[in-house]
Amino acid sequence: MNSTSYLLGRRAALLLAGVLASLSACSNDSGTATPDDSVDPSDTPLQVSLPNPPLTPAPTPADEPEVEPGEFNTVTGFTVVRDTGERLPDEITVELTEADFLAGPLPPVLQVPADVDQSVNAIPYFEDLEDQVAIAGQVLEVLYRPIDPDGGIPGMFPKKLLRNAEFRDNFNGSKSLIWLPLQTDVGIHEFTVTAIDPGNALYRTERTIRIKVIMPEDASSIPNVAPEFVEFLPHTVRVNDPVVLELKATDPNGAVPLIEVPDLPVGATLVQHPRYEEIAVLRFIPTSAGTTSIDVLARDADDASLSSTTTIDITVLDAVDFVRPGARLRALAAQRDLPIGFAARREFYHLPDGALYAGIAAEEFNVVTSENTLNMDVINPLPGRYQFADIDNLISYARTHDMQVHGSALIWHQQLPEWMLNSNPSDRRGHMQEYIHRVLGRYVDDVSVWALVNEAIGENGGMRDSIWFQAMGEDYIEIAFRQARMTHPGATLLLNDFDIAIDGPKADTLYPLLDRLLAKDVPVDGVGFQLHIWSDFDQFDEVRTNFQKVADLGLEIHVTELDVSIPALGNSSDQAEVYRQILSICLEQPACRSLKSWGFTDRYSWRGQYAPLMFDDSYQYKPAYEALQGEL
Ligand code: XIL
Repeated sequence: MNSTSYLLGRRAALLLAGVLASLSACSNDSGTATPDDSVDPSDTPLQVSLPNPPLTPAPTPADEPEVEPGEFNTVTGFTVVRDTGERLPDEITVELTEADFLAGPLPPVLQVPADVDQSVNAIPYFEDLEDQVAIAGQVLEVLYRPIDPDGGIPGMFPKKLLRNAEFRDNFNGSKSLIWLPLQTDVGIHEFTVTAIDPGNALYRTERTIRIKVIMPEDASSIPNVAPEFVEFLPHTVRVNDPVVLELKATDPNGAVPLIEVPDLPVGATLVQHPRYEEIAVLRFIPTSAGTTSIDVLARDADDASLSSTTTIDITVLDAVDFVRPGARLRALAAQRDLPIGFAARREFYHLPDGALYAGIAAEEFNVVTSENTLNMDVINPLPGRYQFADIDNLISYARTHDMQVHGSALIWHQQLPEWMLNSNPSDRRGHMQEYIHRVLGRYVDDVSVWALVNEAIGENGGMRDSIWFQAMGEDYIEIAFRQARMTHPGATLLLNDFDIAIDGPKADTLYPLLDRLLAKDVPVDGVGFQLHIWSDFDQFDEVRTNFQKVADLGLEIHVTELDVSIPALGNSSDQAEVYRQILSICLEQPACRSLKSWGFTDRYSWRGQYAPLMFDDSYQYKPAYEALQGEL
């Protein structure tokens, strides 16, 4: 993007000279051979150099995304790419092993409230519960009869049912787990039931059994069941926009269902998803308004007579139904010199209504940030494995529509890959530096502002006990900023957090932290205020004062994740007023350099049930939108 404008950031300019000197040292991934200082007097700058040799492999051409054919997405203005190879799951869960099963039954977990005298009231328990071996295709039945030594019949409830299992009441004080495991259930499972004392509902015993499902000798003895569709929600789209529907069916027998659309819409394509074999992608362009109902059929791969059907409802509206009055936010904000943006949902171009989403957002905003495409579990799910397609696409989108890209939440305690969570603390500094270097380095020309360190402050003040803090103490912040500055000297680097705009323990922690960092010339350019707030918010004076305190330190202010949730008794005009006030505070503060909302349509908000954004879930503007227009 525009790589000159952010050099105007005051601290960035001051620091640039010093940084250029160290630049040549970090032009490649192996960094310099300078060893890190192991002991640092607290007020001298930490020496930052990348691990040499690297701790994990840097990206190679094999990690480069490939072009995705147009049939798979709603994009018309740029070329979409996709990661090659199998997509790694966002959360790699640890599966139970044979050894876990062989280790024997888990002990009961007792919950004894403080007011219980165990010599008078004994805890309920389960008798005769054992781990089980089940055979795929054969019904497993396990009887649960909790006993209360004091007499009476204990209640009970299961924690989470196994796929398609039933926890049946026998109406005699006992219940039965009834389960017909099939091929996809082969493996080791846990099933937990809690028994409740009849006299004290908090006095409980929790029992977990393990169930090992094995294949029968004769696989053909397993009943073949029909495939199941994954529920598809109705969507609203716009006439003449491409629509993509990812149709997914699963077969508990483990076969891949065949997906058919008997009445294909005119001009539609139906193709196999490139990464998930159980998904078929239907793409079409509706040319007139109305409701389209598309019948979809999933046929069993082994028995064509076994099938399931579902109907997908799409409401097509005319373009005029999405027109907003007045001028667009980005045009108005440009006149006030305030970049205005939104956080884009990961892979928005694979949503059914992705074209409408991308279209409205590009008309309204000149900054796009990444809601969840830059999280470490997405980008670097395994050592040496990289998934850049989502963020590359976001950047292409921004380029097509002349928007800046702001990077979000690079070093955070959440959405971390399993391998990083399990990494040796003494290696973590190196991993962190490598990650920063590889990601910022890749996007030097594309991403101008980074919410580099996210949520470093604990919920009740003090430093958050994250995996980064555990490994490096507070120094991790300094190291992260120094590494980022070395890799991308022109970027605006932010410390980002929530609940720091209002007075309280988090703000009380922020300012001394900033003082410590600035005293050591740590290249922090600004503070990102998330501002996930509620429509009854009224601490505007505190926001104003906290912004001023940050400005007085010579730092920039960015409103990074604004959304205004509506509680049960709230309403959208109060919400509009909160949006207006926050924008007004930003406009009156010269150090406030961007305002981004965390999404723009309630349909795809992380807090969708509280309708926190300025468009509703059918993309209609809300009072908050008009309030922003008015204020700009
Ligand atoms: C949220 C995203 O919006 C969700 O989609 C995701 O499931 C969890 O994270 N503070 C942050 C953001 O810094 O990264 C969080 O985003 C919201 C709170």
